[in-house]
Order: sequence, then C-alpha cells, then structure tokens
Amino acid sequence: SAFCVSAQADTLKVGSHPTFAPFEFVDSEGKAIGFDIDLINAIAKANGDTVEIVSMPFDGLIPALVTNQIDAIISGMTITDARKERVEFTDGYYKSIQSVLIRKADAEKFKKVEDLKGQKICTQIGTTGDKFARTLSEDVIAMNNEPDALMELRNGGCAALINDRPTNLYYLLQSKATEIGELKDDSLYLNPEFYGIAVNKNNKALVKRLNAGLEKIAASGELKSIHEKWFGV
Ligand code: ARG
Repeated sequence: SAFCVSAQADTLKVGSHPTFAPFEFVDSEGKAIGFDIDLINAIAKANGDTVEIVSMPFDGLIPALVTNQIDAIISGMTITDARKERVEFTDGYYKSIQSVLIRKADAEKFKKVEDLKGQKICTQIGTTGDKFARTLSEDVIAMNNEPDALMELRNGGCAALINDRPTNLYYLLQSKATEIGELKDDSLYLNPEFYGIAVNKNNKALVKRLNAGLEKIAASGELKSIHEKWFGV
C-alpha cells in the first residue's frame, strides 16, 4: 500500500469508524457501507485505484494515519484547525452541523444550547461535538460511538447528546426513541462543519489525487447519485 512514496495506482488503505450512519456503518454481514464508503470507492475508481477499508475507533484514526498504518481517513471527519496541525485534508465533501438531542420531557427546561450549561452531556469520543460540549459543561461523558451515547441519553445517564446532525437524526429515527427529540436552536447553523478526507502531511501527491478524483465524480454526476442513495435527495 506504500502510498506515501508515490501517487501511482495502488490499493489505498483507508481508516474509518463505521458506527456513524449514514456515512459509515456495517451491514448484517459486518461489511462497511455508507455515503463515505461509496464516495472513497468512487474517487479511487475514477483514479484507477482500489480501496481497503480498515475499521478502527474514531480517536485512533489520526494516530494510525501519522504512523503510516493507513494511507487516508474517511470517517465523517470535520476539517478543523487543530487536526490540520497533524494531517492534511482534501477539499470538503459534505457540509454538516452539530445537533443536540434531549428527552422531550425536558423540552421546557432546555430551549437553547446555553440552557445546557453545567449539565451532564453525552458525546462521542474525539469528536467536534465532544469539544463543543466541553465549552458548555465540565460534566461530559464521551462514549465510543453514537448508538451507545443515544442509549445513555435514553437511560437517563445524561441530559443531552451532542453529535453531528445527520447521524443524530439517523439513529434517532432508527431507534424509534419517541421520547427523545431535537433541541431546536438556530445558533447551531452559525457553525457549519465540512468533512474532508485526511491524508499524511508529507503526502501532498495523494491529496492532489483524491481532490482530482472528487472533481471527476462531481463532474460526472456520480457524487450526486451517491448523495441521493444515502440521503434521498
Ligand atoms: N464530524 C465529527 C468530527 O469530525 C464526528 C465524526 C465521527 N465519525 C465517525 N465515523 N465516528 O469530529
């Protein structure tokens, strides 16, 4: 897989944490599927490359990349300044925002994000949502994944769950947790996040190659059809 040496056609080892539907999750056979998985496969195919998805915990992805165990990360990973100090990102491929889930019984108590100040908040470890939660409260429980965090909220282990909106809404719908709802606060729209594919800092050739692939699948309409497949629009 030695992609760090050249940008010749190759098998890309791509790390992902597949508990983040509809971007990456596993089917009944344990195979990684989702928007990100289709996206990276389409980009690679457009470039004449192939992809091997390597599953790992979200907070292990950047360490695995910087130690060359993988060539790239696709994991709904937000492009942030802090991460940019350690890795290189491709162009953004998806615009997201944070969202807050609460128990509907608390809807009168928690009307704005700031009403959560000092509350016990569930997050997913290593995420932008976790960082955001820590600006509101010192009482943050970082879970390994979104389904566990949602379970914790339902069980009363925390007052709110903060994570990326598409994923929050996906698991909320899937769990049929009718007692849980979304806290509506327009201020969340003020801080959009963009997902990018992360690559090693010394691997500019691969960043270029992935960006070129992304442009190709945008131009061909394939990006649009992958979006339609997973988001219905
Ligand atoms: N976008 C958020 C971040 O970059 C959450 C991503 C979590 N992704 C995952 N596959 N678990 O921090």
